[in-house]
Amino acid sequence: MTPRTPRDVLAELTALTAEDVPTHGGATMAYVYDSGLAEVDGLAAAAQAAFQWTNALDPTAFPSVARVEDDLVAAGLGLLGGGPAAVGTVTSGGTESCLLAVLAARTRWRATHPGDDRRPQLLLPVTAHAAFRKAAHLFDLAVVDVGVDQVTCRVRPGDVEQLLSTRTALVVVSAPSYPHGVLDPVAEVAALARAAGVPCHVDACIGGWLLPFLDPAPFDLSVPGVTSLSVDLHKYGYAPKGVSLLLTGDPEFRVGHGYATAGWPGYPVVNPTLAGTRPAGPMAAAWAVHRWLGTEGYRRLARAARTATEQLVAGLAAVPGVRVVGEPATTLVALAGEDGLDVLHLADEMTARGWLLQPQPPFDQPDGTRLPATLHLTVTAATADRVPALLADLADAARAAVQLPPPVPDPGLVAAAEGLDPAALTVAEVDGLLAFAGLDGGPLPARMAPVHALVAALPRPVAERLLTGVLDRVYRPTR
Ligand SMILES: Cc1ncc(COP(=O)(O)O)c(C=O)c1O
Repeated sequence: MTPRTPRDVLAELTALTAEDVPTHGGATMAYVYDSGLAEVDGLAAAAQAAFQWTNALDPTAFPSVARVEDDLVAAGLGLLGGGPAAVGTVTSGGTESCLLAVLAARTRWRATHPGDDRRPQLLLPVTAHAAFRKAAHLFDLAVVDVGVDQVTCRVRPGDVEQLLSTRTALVVVSAPSYPHGVLDPVAEVAALARAAGVPCHVDACIGGWLLPFLDPAPFDLSVPGVTSLSVDLHKYGYAPKGVSLLLTGDPEFRVGHGYATAGWPGYPVVNPTLAGTRPAGPMAAAWAVHRWLGTEGYRRLARAARTATEQLVAGLAAVPGVRVVGEPATTLVALAGEDGLDVLHLADEMTARGWLLQPQPPFDQPDGTRLPATLHLTVTAATADRVPALLADLADAARAAVQLPPPVPDPGLVAAAEGLDPAALTVAEVDGLLAFAGLDGGPLPARMAPVHALVAALPRPVAERLLTGVLDRVYRPTR
């Protein structure tokens, strides 16, 4: 047998991507952010390669990495209203930025509430990214859900005001929210938080590198009461995955999410983030892309994506059976169904036409109101040329979807699931339930509507256990 060449190996690896959704071309409207510029890809790849063997764990060994991180933070602060004392941290992604914001807030709450052994609370609009729920779970805070207005999908400042208390460690607002792409009333909520002596985090993970180019309502660190802000470079910063910023006007804040120990026989450990060893490749790529695009490049891309979004929203008025939920503040659009059209079917129909629109289940709010099931569309500069094709496919898909009966989950399965204690289920039992639901570990069904409908119909803890089971099945190495 002839030995494999690196070229063979790469071909083998590339072949693995054949079943993936496309990362480029604008048809995958979640997960990926395509600038549409070939230079960005080439530059990012070369910059990653230049830093691929370094380690951001130790900035004294790799001062180049510290410089890259400082430059990224400076760029973020410059864009997002950081004052002279403002600082920041480069993290691995939006989730980590949100986790660290909550951790820092918990540290602060504990320091300012000595002897108070209650669990601190996280005041969370239901539309805030799930990363904050994960943070509360990991760092043992109690989530206080704040419902949103059913029409605008924005949190109401009055509701936040009522729920603020001496237990509140942090209030979160989104700029914009992931599910509906709407901008929370940042200035009003931040003012209320400030009056109560509570920090306020703006989650601008998805919008922070766009909004400054779109003339939005005030939302950044310059707004009184905003104490921290997260923004991802691996979204509309058009950098490859693995780089986000957590920014703050308060130099004390970073101490609250860092970790240091000299309490072991190895090297002194000082970690600003959750990881120890940290890859600097994505940071270097973000640095290079940012330097090349510059403010003008980002402005052009932001405007192109926003114009495409406006054309899409205008065109949707003529697509029967769908409506836009809320007022898209940036380039995210949430579509709900009407007149008998189920958006879960629409998602499947669009998949068959080569698009990925992300299904979001209906959601019952604490006050009993319900947010409808929606499809999430992330528009990027790469979608700009394809809006007419997207609208034509949506109209065609809507015609097909409205003919289909509502995706109703098997009532026997739902009834059986209601009696389950998810914590007591073994891996084998979960496998059995998934097989019963048609998810037996093979490729996912071509039509996912019944699966999403099932997840939405199950008691939430059971659904969560089954979702964990789905992933458990996906990650079983073939031997
Ligand atoms: C508003 C917001 N916050 C947080 C996140 C989590 O980011 P990541 O997926 O990079 O961890 C996202 C991701 O889409 C987001 O849109």
